[in-house]
Amino acid sequence: MAQRIAVIAGDGIGPEVVRQALRVLEVLRRERGVDVEPWELPLGAELYLKNGTTFPLELRDEVKRTCRAVLLGAVGDPRVPSGEHAHDILLGMRMAWDLYANVRPVRALTDELVPLRGKTQSDVDMVIFRENTEGQYVGVGHERGRGGPDEIAVNREVHTRRGVERLLRAALDHARLHRRPLLMTDKSNAIASQGIWRRVLAELRAEYPDVQTEQLYVDALAARLIQAPERHGVIAGNNLFGDILADLCAALAGGLGLSPSANLHPAVAGHIGLFEPVHGSAPDIAGRGVANPLGAIRSLGMLLEHLGYSAEAKRIEQSAAEVLRLGRCTADVGGRLGCEAAGSAFLEVLAHH
Ligand code: NAI
Ligand code: MG
Repeated sequence: MAQRIAVIAGDGIGPEVVRQALRVLEVLRRERGVDVEPWELPLGAELYLKNGTTFPLELRDEVKRTCRAVLLGAVGDPRVPSGEHAHDILLGMRMAWDLYANVRPVRALTDELVPLRGKTQSDVDMVIFRENTEGQYVGVGHERGRGGPDEIAVNREVHTRRGVERLLRAALDHARLHRRPLLMTDKSNAIASQGIWRRVLAELRAEYPDVQTEQLYVDALAARLIQAPERHGVIAGNNLFGDILADLCAALAGGLGLSPSANLHPAVAGHIGLFEPVHGSAPDIAGRGVANPLGAIRSLGMLLEHLGYSAEAKRIEQSAAEVLRLGRCTADVGGRLGCEAAGSAFLEVLAHH
């Protein structure tokens, strides 16, 4: 029986790039025996504006029950300044399903995409493990006296032993499997509560004697990523630092339009995962047909890897590298094609891999 995946194209360029990813899936189903059936859910700003629906709980539960993965385009629309629907859809899945590891591979696919002088493709190859459920994003805080001279804005960060340990374990397991060094980053010299990250890592080292580990304050890491990206393999850190570093690293590998990501619960085999390009809905270019579909297509690749189709995942990566080498891509990565044409170019190249 076919495995079902849910597909939420969402807002802005979301539907444009997801359309191209689904064309790829269709070909893999037809020609490569990938037995995966997409189930498209029309969630997003359009539906929210029509009748206030964000992500009905029964539907979310049904997705969890019947699917092993979700492919998401992007959510966020200028017509919904509160971002309520985006919050319910994206954070709803991350939180309700406890997808605690945000995994973002950063691999430059050609030399030209690396913006650093003297650095080449092989210098930019890392994976970021960002804690995805706590840290600075738990929404604990308050404001007082807004706009007045005594205004105070407080936001707490929360790091639990369970949360820190499971994220570090996921990163250490990945480092072990791929024989890469692990770097944990924090700012415990200035924010004492982040010392928990160092203590938990120190405890886990005994269980992972074969993994080379290092810890570095986040400011020092920011500098070193620019000076010596080649020194990095797996990078683990809290929610905020992971968020920022992932965009920095995406820029080292050619930009947001190319970057894929996964939201996972790695402690349980077969757990549902959420796969999405790192970029947002890009309202500035939405509807113009110029968005880069490769971030979404590579996210589909990660999804297929999650479902056990490793060979197909590899072909998607190789084909993405090939279209970039050929310059058959969108303007953000130096090409001249629109979104649909870039999707067609990808399919042509895929057929030869
Ligand atoms: P964004 O990622 O949408 O756009 C940033 C810049 O990158 C823009 O100039 C955009 O044109 C460009 N860009 C992004 N993706 C591209 C692609 N595939 N091809 C070519 N260029 C691309 O981030 P921004 O502008 O901060 O946010 C826009 C909306 O998206 C907001 O509503 C935000 O909340 C939402 N958002 C949603 C995310 C998600 O669904 N996971 C993640 C980030 C933002
Ligand atoms: Mg971000």
